Amino acid sequence: MAMPAQPVPSHPPSLVAMHELHSVRYVASTAAIPLDAPIYVAGHRGLVGSALTRKLQAEGFQNILTPSRHELDLTNAQEVEHFFATRQPKYVFLAAAKVGGILANHHCPADFARDNLLIATHVIHASWKYGVRKLLFLGSSCIYPKFAEQPIREEALMTGALEPTNSAYAVAKIAGIELCKAYRRQHGFASISLMPTNLYGPGDNFHPEHSHVIPGLLRRFHEAKVARKPSVCTWGSGQPRREFLHVDDLADACLFAMRRYDSPEPLNIGCGEDLTIAELVETIRDVVGFKGNIAWDPSKPDGTPRKVLDVSRLQSLGWKPRIKLRAGLEATYDWYCAQAGTTDNREATKSETVGK
Ligand SMILES: NC(=O)c1ccc[n+]([C@@H]2O[C@H](COP(=O)([O-])OP(=O)(O)OC[C@H]3O[C@@H](n4cnc5c(N)ncnc54)[C@H](OP(=O)(O)O)[C@@H]3O)[C@@H](O)[C@H]2O)c1
Repeated sequence: MAMPAQPVPSHPPSLVAMHELHSVRYVASTAAIPLDAPIYVAGHRGLVGSALTRKLQAEGFQNILTPSRHELDLTNAQEVEHFFATRQPKYVFLAAAKVGGILANHHCPADFARDNLLIATHVIHASWKYGVRKLLFLGSSCIYPKFAEQPIREEALMTGALEPTNSAYAVAKIAGIELCKAYRRQHGFASISLMPTNLYGPGDNFHPEHSHVIPGLLRRFHEAKVARKPSVCTWGSGQPRREFLHVDDLADACLFAMRRYDSPEPLNIGCGEDLTIAELVETIRDVVGFKGNIAWDPSKPDGTPRKVLDVSRLQSLGWKPRIKLRAGLEATYDWYCAQAGTTDNREATKSETVGK
């Protein structure tokens, strides 16, 4: 008796393979990205996007698409549609987002929710619609519940209440993760979500009021050194523990994941090591070469006692960071000095110290 004909898959082989892999929790599969493939880095001027662009250039990719914000506002559906229809990217790193500190999130939660929901909706939809082979969406560790067990595992997502100060932003990011899962389930679209820990590095925002902890401290110690102040006052007790990853390591992890990770489950990206804020402050004082004292203001809030990501899923795939915190801080400070156009940089400080 003749055997019934095998059904012909309606998807390209890579997508069929991906369907079969849905039940597997974390998938390591090697997929080469051709060096001439059109790769769209959304948010290429930002901290993450600029590091990704540097990494892709260094790896020899020749067709990196980086339209300006003026050319392509990702909150505008028509502009996104037109860009994908005409430029036909094959890989997308979605590192564009409306990002801000506690104050900005507190004052403008509607802007943070709306912009980030629109960016994720437009880019993920157009990527699927116009045949992108794979999309990488960037979330953030703030998507996890405020009181998640430490180190935070990926499974903690949506198991408790969020930190209220940035819940609108976090919900928009969680929606992005869910969109990736939904397009994968309904359409077989290869989209993955990465959750980076706190990042720092060249291209960071050193604004005196709106910066994250590392650029904020580097700037304050630098300015205190230049002004020969006797001390720098820092907030809280110094006892909370935090984790930091250099943005060039993140970019490396993103490319690694684009090639090797294919699963609906989010993937934490961090170094898995934390330190106290007091230890961080001491190191930054040393890197900057500030000779004064460090004062602590315990009346200011400490925030969560500990925040560190569980990176065992990432490690099981074979990735680990390369840049040690001290070396990363030195490079970031050098970059800041070069940007600020100051000659009073780390090297100058070092030789001054040696000469004394
Ligand atoms: N920085 C961190 O510590 C950290 C940690 C974990 C996760 N992340 C995640 O990583 C992603 C990128 O963060 P980042 O620190 O690189 O942020 P960033 O430095 O503020 O960069 C964001 C980028 O998005 C672009 N953008 C914003 N709205 C846009 C729009 N409507 N249309 C087009 N482009 C738009 C910005 O363009 P312009 O330059 O033109 O303004 C900028 O290039 C975010 O999803 C964030 O949650 C960051």
